[in-house]
Formats: sequence, structure tokens, C-alpha cells
Amino acid sequence: MISNPYVAIDGPAGAGKSTVARTLANKLGFIYIDTGAMYRAVTLMALREGVDLTDQAGLTRLAQSVSVVLMPDGNGGLKVLLNGDDVSEDIRSQEVSKNVSLVAMVPGVRKRLVELQRAMASRGGVVMEGRDIGTVVLPDAPVKIFLTASSVERAKRRREELAAKGNLIDQEQMEKEILRRDQIDSTRAADPLVQAADAVAIDSTSYSVKEVVDMIMALVTAEEKRP
Ligand code: DC
Repeated sequence: MISNPYVAIDGPAGAGKSTVARTLANKLGFIYIDTGAMYRAVTLMALREGVDLTDQAGLTRLAQSVSVVLMPDGNGGLKVLLNGDDVSEDIRSQEVSKNVSLVAMVPGVRKRLVELQRAMASRGGVVMEGRDIGTVVLPDAPVKIFLTASSVERAKRRREELAAKGNLIDQEQMEKEILRRDQIDSTRAADPLVQAADAVAIDSTSYSVKEVVDMIMALVTAEEKRP
């Protein structure tokens, strides 16, 4: 029996968290929550408003005043609303990707978004993905996954994802950017990217999405059967 119907999926950029989490949520009938999208939405707002990305107090004020809402898009994915506007596409821009780690390292921004994430989870079954879900946001999640893949594979996947949208980026440049973000995300003082002690690590380098989802489903089923 699962008392807290949460699945927490953490891991570095490009490890396949979003596709896996979305597929899993649809299978389980749970809500899918992409917390990275929330950090991206605050970053987009900061860029639009011209807030200095080294001004931690300014970024904290901004995070406290914006409305960030995630809604099902009707296709198993998510729509991201920033102050009521659909920014689902805009938050995936290179400009936001390059700068989001700087915004995500600000403790005041994290505090506000973690509160929103916990409020969303309190409504019921969720599959939540991010960097600190198993460690900070939902430490009581009965199933915690730490999803990784080699940096070459992660850069390849991100590159293909962007190329499908008409954004052509060099593999080497993509690898550099992914490693830079890993470095900032794992070494920041506030809630760094680390594997929770009770998380199951899955290296997805040579597995398909379906194989990874099946592995996690097996863990959820085992958890449900526990007395
Ligand atoms: O998963 P993503 O690439 O969309 O995440 C964007 C950024 O947000 C990434 O640099 C790490 C940060 N992030 C975070 O610090 N904590 C989370 N729970 C989710 C994302």
C-alpha cells in the first residue's frame, strides 16, 4: 500500500526525465509535474523584466510575485502559464536554458517554488521530476529514482529534441552547455542535485524510454504490494 502516492524522479539535464515521467504519469493516472519548467518560467520573467541575474533579492521578489501554473495540455504533456500567459514554448529557448541555473541557485526562488510544488503534490498522485524532489520537495516519496545517462548521450538527446523544432546546435557546444549546467546544479549551496540515499539509480544510456518506464513501474508495483 502506498500511503503517499508520489514518484520522485531526479537527475541531470537530458537524462530523459521528462519523457519518462510523463509516460509513467499517464500509465498510473497520476499528475505529471515538471519542476524545471517552473524555474524556467521565473527565468523567462527575469529576462523579460531585465532583472539582473546576479541580484538575488530582486530574483526572490520576482519569484514571490509571479504566478506560475502547470496545466495538462490535453496530450499527456504540460502547459505552463506565467501570469496567465502560455509560455510553454518560450521557456525552452536557448536564452532561458543558458541562464536558468543562475536563477535556480537563489535560495529565495527555491523556497517559493518548493512551496508551490508541495501544494500541487498535496492534491494526490503525482510523478514529479526535477533535481531535488527526492531530497527536499517530497522526502517521503515511496518511490525515488535518480535517472542518469552519459553526458555524450544526454547532449545527443537534447540536440535531437531541439533539431526537431528547427534549432540546430553543434554536438560539442551542447555537451559543453550540459556539463556547465551539471556543474552549477550539483555544486550550488541550496538544494544541490544529489542522489537521495533511498533513491534507485537508473543509468538510461542504453535503455529505451519504455524499458526505463517498465523498470519504474515494477518498483511502484512492488511498493504497492508492501504490507
Ligand atoms: O529540467 P530542466 O532542464 O528544465 O531544468 C531547468 C533548470 O532548473 C536546471 O538548470 C536545474 C533547475 N532545477 C532545479 O534546480 N530544481 C528542480 N527541482 C528542477 C530544475
